[in-house]
Amino acid sequence: MRDKFRASRQSLSQTAFIGLMAAAIGAFFFLLGLVYFYVSPISLTMYSPKQPIPFSHKLHAGENKIPCQYCHSDARRSESAGVPGAQKCMNCHNTIKSESPEILKVAAAIEKGKPIEWIKVFVTPDHVWFSHKRHIKKDVACQTCHGKVETMEVVGRAVDHKMGFCLDCHREKGAPTDCWTCHT
Ligand code: HEC
Ligand code: HEC
Ligand code: HEC
Ligand code: HEC
Ligand code: HEC
Repeated sequence: MRDKFRASRQSLSQTAFIGLMAAAIGAFFFLLGLVYFYVSPISLTMYSPKQPIPFSHKLHAGENKIPCQYCHSDARRSESAGVPGAQKCMNCHNTIKSESPEILKVAAAIEKGKPIEWIKVFVTPDHVWFSHKRHIKKDVACQTCHGKVETMEVVGRAVDHKMGFCLDCHREKGAPTDCWTCHT
C-alpha cells in the first residue's frame, strides 16, 4: 500500500519535472523567436517610416478604391512612379474633409510653395537601374513588387528587392538577364 503510494508520488514528480522542462524549452524558443523577429532581415523588410502627414493607402486605395495610377500617374510613362503633388490631393480635399488639421497642412504646403517631404520607402542602390514603364506595359501588377499596398495604413517595404527576386521573374518571363540590363 505504502509502496504503491510512493511510486505514484514519484511518477507525479517525474511528470512535474518533464512538464517544467517542456515549459523551459518552450520559453527558450519563444525568446529566441522574439530575438530573431527583431534582428532578422524579416523585420528590416517591413521598414515603414513615419510620414509627415498620416496618409493612408488603406483608406484611399482600399476603402475608396482610388486607382494606384490616379496618383502614381508617371508609372506607365517613365522610370519612376512618382508621388503625387499636394495639388492633386486638393482635387478631392478642397471639398472632402477640408477642415481636417491634416488637410490644412496640405493646403498650407501649397500656399508656401513647399512640397510635402514624403520619406522614401523603396530605395535601390545606385548601381541598379530600374524602370517602371517597361513593367507596367507588360502588365506586372504593382503588388508583385510592393505587396498589398491597398491594405496598408502606412506603406512598408513588404517585398525585398533583392537581385534574386528580380532575376527569378526575368528568367520566368524571358526578360533580359544579362548584367547590363540592371547594372550601369
Ligand atoms: C517590377 C517591380 C515593380 C513594379 C511592377 C512596380 N514597382 Fe514601384 N518600384 C519598384 C522599385 C525597384 C522601386 C525603387 C526605385 C528606385 O529606388 O529608384 C519602386 C519605387 C516606387 C515608388 C517610389 C517613387 C519612385 O518612383 O521611385 C512608388 C510610388 C512606386 N514604386 C509605385 C508603384 C506603382 C503604383 C506601381 C504599379 C502601377 C508600381 N510601383 C509597380 C519596383 C516596381
Ligand atoms: C480621389 C479623391 C482623393 C484624393 C486625390 C486624395 N484623397 Fe484623401 N481622402 C479621400 C476620401 C474619400 C477620404 C475619406 C474621407 C472620410 O473619411 O470621410 C480621405 C481622407 C483623407 C485623410 C483623413 C482626414 C481625416 O481627418 O479623417 C487624409 C489625411 C488624407 N485623405 C490625405 C490625403 C493626401 C495627403 C492626399 C494627396 C496625396 C489625398 N488625401 C488625396 C479622397 C481623396
Ligand atoms: C490618393 C493618392 C494615392 C493613391 C490612390 C495611391 N497612392 Fe501610393 N502613395 C501616395 C503618397 C502621397 C505616397 C507617399 C506617402 C507614403 O509613403 O505613404 C505614396 C507612396 C507609395 C509607395 C511608397 C513609395 C516610396 O517611397 O518608395 C508605394 C510603393 C505606393 N505608394 C504604391 C501604391 C499602390 C500600389 C497603390 C494602389 C494600390 C497606390 N500607391 C495608391 C499616394 C497614393
Ligand atoms: C514579375 C516579373 C518581374 C519582376 C519581379 C521584375 N521584372 Fe524587370 N522586367 C520584367 C519583364 C517581363 C521585362 C521585359 C519588358 C519588355 O520586354 O519590354 C522586364 C524588363 C526590365 C528592364 C528593362 C530591360 C530593357 O531592355 O530595357 C529592367 C532594367 C528591369 N526589368 C529591371 C528589373 C529590376 C531591377 C527588378 C527588381 C527590382 C525587376 N526588373 C523585377 C519582369 C519583371
Ligand atoms: C533583373 C535585374 C538584375 C540583373 C539582370 C542583375 N542584377 Fe545584380 N542586382 C540587382 C539588384 C536589384 C541588386 C540590389 C540587391 C539589394 O539591394 O539587395 C543587385 C545587386 C548586385 C550586386 C551587389 C551585391 C548584392 O548581392 O547586393 C552585385 C555584385 C551584382 N548585383 C552583380 C550582378 C551580376 C554580375 C549580374 C549578371 C550576371 C547581375 N548582377 C545581374 C538586379 C540585377
